[in-house]
Amino acid sequence: MKKFNKISIIGTGLIGGSLGLAIKQKGMAKEVFGIAKHQETIKEAIEIGAIDKGSLRLKDVEKSELIIVCTPVGEIVSTIQKIIPFLDQSCLITDVGSTKEEIVKEVNKFLPPHIHFVGGHPLAGSEKRGIKAAQANLFEGSLAFLTKSKQTNQDALNKIKQFWKEIGTRTKVISTDKHDKIVAAISHLPHIVAVSLTNSVQSEHLKYAAKSWKDLTRIASSDALLWKDICLSNKKGIVESLERLIEHLVIMKDLVAKEDLQKLANQFRRARQKKLRYEKIVIAIDGPAGAGKSVVGKRLADKLDFVYLDTGAMYRAITLKAIRKGINLNDKNLLIKMCRQTKIDFIFKKRGQVVLLLDGEDVHKEIRKGEVTKKVFYLAKLPEIRERMVDLQRKLSRGKNIVAEGRDMGSVVFPQAKKFYLDASLKERTERRYKQLLVQEEKASLEEIKKDIRVRDKKDSKRKTAPLKRVEDAFYIDTTKMGIEEVVKRILARL
Ligand code: DC
Repeated sequence: MKKFNKISIIGTGLIGGSLGLAIKQKGMAKEVFGIAKHQETIKEAIEIGAIDKGSLRLKDVEKSELIIVCTPVGEIVSTIQKIIPFLDQSCLITDVGSTKEEIVKEVNKFLPPHIHFVGGHPLAGSEKRGIKAAQANLFEGSLAFLTKSKQTNQDALNKIKQFWKEIGTRTKVISTDKHDKIVAAISHLPHIVAVSLTNSVQSEHLKYAAKSWKDLTRIASSDALLWKDICLSNKKGIVESLERLIEHLVIMKDLVAKEDLQKLANQFRRARQKKLRYEKIVIAIDGPAGAGKSVVGKRLADKLDFVYLDTGAMYRAITLKAIRKGINLNDKNLLIKMCRQTKIDFIFKKRGQVVLLLDGEDVHKEIRKGEVTKKVFYLAKLPEIRERMVDLQRKLSRGKNIVAEGRDMGSVVFPQAKKFYLDASLKERTERRYKQLLVQEEKASLEEIKKDIRVRDKKDSKRKTAPLKRVEDAFYIDTTKMGIEEVVKRILARL
């Protein structure tokens, strides 16, 4: 795709800032210009490399070839109306709003023929907001809806499709009506349910709230102003979804009241089957170094035809980059900045084999070196870096059945997973590591290795953020006297 001369992003929050980072990382524009409401946001967006320049005035979008409106839903239409006078012929506008019918209809009312608008909605985000949470890979591997109506210009639609493709995002072209129905069901309705559920529970009961309640209401603390606008903008879709939900709630209420146990059980069974059909399985394996997580994980992935995700390799890869760049490992800010601008990918192959790519380079051998192993903890202890890794791990696993291994798979990254905790005696783990190093042709005495493992155990389990720990619902396996096949068999028996 030809490089854009100037892309303007209006609203440099989480979504706008992440888009800016991605556009700049991929070199898709000569200039990325940001518009925000506060000077502080512009400053921060420039600092993290999300935009080249910025301003508080909408007028400064002039001479842009592409404008991406990333404001809250309630401001999209008025923002587009305000910028029209400053736009050149054939300027392309798109947005990222989570509702489409009303926005597209309203914009089409005043859009001049020489300017094209394509309604868009990337299905990516986070509970976090603002430029501080922006990340270059937010959209990678996810899906963006693009809307098509009678007024949509095919050429403009193709260009926006290509734009998202370069960002690393799949696209689906859909009518505005269908878009709003889908999003009402899979996104707007759950938010409303979380809010209603929270409001319906008596406050005095809340102090006993358990995990199920917390799981279901995680999204109940969303921004009120934002949601007020979304409800207004997708009234039709939300009302339809709510009506369907209410029908189901009434069915459940009647079955409980009538004690119709058979039909009640059928409802639970039906939901379980439906979820199984659409949701993928995650097997989380945690444990200390040398407990056998990787061999077991790979073997298991191979047997089940699952993807194997080695999260330790990700922490190793960014450590390798920091070492290569000669970054002072105590310089937290520099490490965080470097991590933000780093691209980690896996090529998943058959038989549990994976190739890790650090900024496109295969580094699977280098990350196993002793120097990397010793220095990983400088990066792995930083909450900002862990946050990015966790996001990436979730993203890499989306839509796949996976075996994920590391230290915080069950406790943080995949709380919904089937969890296992592998362990082995220090002596056994030392001997395993010794044999591994022999293969890698690195020298170390048993005594040195034992000391290293002790230090790593301590660092992994004592750090403040996401320490290695055995969560209650993880199945514990002491692998000291077990072969790989035996461990795999035990895990399979628990699935
Ligand atoms: O599993 P490994 O030895 O390749 O992991 C390397 C280091 O990365 C390990 O000492 C701790 C850290 N790590 C982590 O903090 N969280 C993970 N999920 C995986 C690894």
